[in-house]
Amino acid sequence: MEMITCADLDALSRTAASFIVDAISKQPSCVLGLATGSTPLGTYRELIKRFNHGEVSFNNVRTINLDEYVGLEKQDPNSYYQYMNRNLFSHIDIRRENIHIPDGTAGDLSLECIRYDNSLDRLDGFRLQILGLGRNGHIGFNEPGTPFDLRTHTVRLTESTRKANARFFKNESQVPESAITMGIQDILSADVILLLVAGASKEQALKTLMESDRPDEKFPATVLKRHKRTIILADRKARGGA
Ligand code: GLP
Repeated sequence: MEMITCADLDALSRTAASFIVDAISKQPSCVLGLATGSTPLGTYRELIKRFNHGEVSFNNVRTINLDEYVGLEKQDPNSYYQYMNRNLFSHIDIRRENIHIPDGTAGDLSLECIRYDNSLDRLDGFRLQILGLGRNGHIGFNEPGTPFDLRTHTVRLTESTRKANARFFKNESQVPESAITMGIQDILSADVILLLVAGASKEQALKTLMESDRPDEKFPATVLKRHKRTIILADRKARGGA
């Protein structure tokens, strides 16, 4: 794992966007693995800016999102489908058929997981995966204790994750109890992973990750130590600075 420390979230977002634009310029049909949450918002804003300036086109890019809440309709403002639409897809020239997000309202969730694995398997070529870091070490929605060899699966969200994500909802009771997430095995098959870590609330999680000497299912992000090219982009606050 490499670490790049950025002055603040804006600088981190510009750096992440540069990695993404660079990947697209090298391979216009590359695959972007995308994350949700607050941390990547600035990166998406920066990508929209660069698209508007004519610096990048997403016309051939394919995307695969990490996760989705179970039970939220696509139109629900809190679904990750809407999040992606609102914060990135509706502002760029990506083609709808190239976007992949799990369907949290599928009648048969096990079938939906298989369908998602099949989509993943068809996405050949270079893949750059963006990841956020959960305070409990989750990546995607792979909560502590998730076996590293799982593919797409449904997961019961932990109390701490539901609390952390309650800020997006009216109250905690509205946060769905479960989600569909890409598994760790598939996260690890990306060519390059960018782990975005910002803010003082992530300081402890980043410290735990850096201090662990081996992958440990109790703190899923530690599996990234096994990956061939993971770059951590952290801001000063996440590194314990003011
Ligand atoms: C959420 C998402 C993750 C995200 C993480 C961190 O629960 N499922 O994909 O990376 O938690 O979110 P944030 O950036 O808001 O701290």
